[in-house]
Amino acid sequence: MSLLESPTVVDRESTHLAHQYDTSEQQQDASKLGMWIFLTTEIMLFSGLMCAYAVFKMTKPDIFAWGHHILDIPLGAINTIVLITSSFTMAWAVRAVQLDQRRLAIVLMISTIVCGLGFLGIKAIEYTDKIHYGLVPGAAFKPNMRYVATRFGVSRAQLRKMVQPPTIETVIPLFPADATRGKIAFDSTCYSCHGLNGAGLTNLGANLRTSKFVAGKTDEALLAFIKSGRLPTDPETVLKLTMPPKGGNPSLNDRNLADAVAYIRTLQKDEKEHPGAAEQVAVGVLPKSFIAPAAVGPEGFAQPALRHPPTSLDEFNPPHNEQLFFSIYFLLTGLHGIHVIIGLGIITWLLIGTWRGSISSNYSTPVDLGGLYWHLVDIIWIFLFPLIYLLK
Ligand code: HEC
Repeated sequence: MSLLESPTVVDRESTHLAHQYDTSEQQQDASKLGMWIFLTTEIMLFSGLMCAYAVFKMTKPDIFAWGHHILDIPLGAINTIVLITSSFTMAWAVRAVQLDQRRLAIVLMISTIVCGLGFLGIKAIEYTDKIHYGLVPGAAFKPNMRYVATRFGVSRAQLRKMVQPPTIETVIPLFPADATRGKIAFDSTCYSCHGLNGAGLTNLGANLRTSKFVAGKTDEALLAFIKSGRLPTDPETVLKLTMPPKGGNPSLNDRNLADAVAYIRTLQKDEKEHPGAAEQVAVGVLPKSFIAPAAVGPEGFAQPALRHPPTSLDEFNPPHNEQLFFSIYFLLTGLHGIHVIIGLGIITWLLIGTWRGSISSNYSTPVDLGGLYWHLVDIIWIFLFPLIYLLK
């Protein structure tokens, strides 16, 4: 038998048989194997992230206990039902294609797409709320305490009786600040121009130890100055150089800067006690980068007291680094959401193929594999929902 001869006579056109395969069964097996390998990588991706989730939950249980109140369990549960329904309609659609029930397959695929869009719509509602109320990852984390309190079950009537400061920064006064934490912020950002002990670096930054400007300003005014910086054109300029807003590190929040101010005060005090002792010290090796802890609040399980009825919004202050919870929440659900969007694209493509007749019982591999992908998306959510929403 020559190499060019096929062992069986097959209609390569109608079964979409690629030249490297002898039979369509062989092609289908290869595609399935490839798909399962791909699904395994997907599962590994998500299990890695779920492990990270577990580790964070173990080391920082307080931020999960707090964050748990914020999540909307009914919406999450509705979404679970919507997605399970879509998995069912998709499985049925695959069967319908295999049985050449073209119309039924089309209806079922459209239902799957509608469910998928419904899922995304509900997710969008959840995301919008969180973003709107400042419950986001990183330095932008600034929870609206009124909203937080309602998520903790405080009624609107109770809420009206409470003092209601608008943001976390006003809930906890910035001063007195913590100089020890301030040194961390200073040594990560300000040192590059002001030197490690604040004595200033030639042609880079002013001496903060001897600065009359610093000595003559209140803590609040100094904080405001550091937030806005100073241009060389400013009449108060010392070196005719730029002091960038927040020292050029936008991740520093008011709390971090207030702490830095407290640290600068200790530098000035040190200068008074040992005049001229400090030299200009720059660092040769860069200290490790500093991601400012955005959340301000009590550490550990000191919160929320939830005395009933609660008397002040302070009781709902998030624990330290609460924004981490929202990083994990948005990462896991966002990555899953991207999978839903990709899945919807694939199903739309399958729908068009089925409509045109290019996908049928003759050639059903695309629907089989598309169906598998959609089930994966569904299964991942079935793990994510209890993990994020239900576990306390
Ligand atoms: C890119 C370099 C640079 C960084 C980083 C930087 N500064 Fe400055 N800073 C300057 C310069 C330059 C001046 C002096 C500006 C002028 O000529 O008036 C200054 C001035 C100041 C002053 C006023 C001193 C005075 O006597 O007028 C304060 C306070 C200050 N910086 C605080 C900080 C703090 C806090 C940080 C860290 C969050 C920081 N700076 C980071 C360059 C920097």
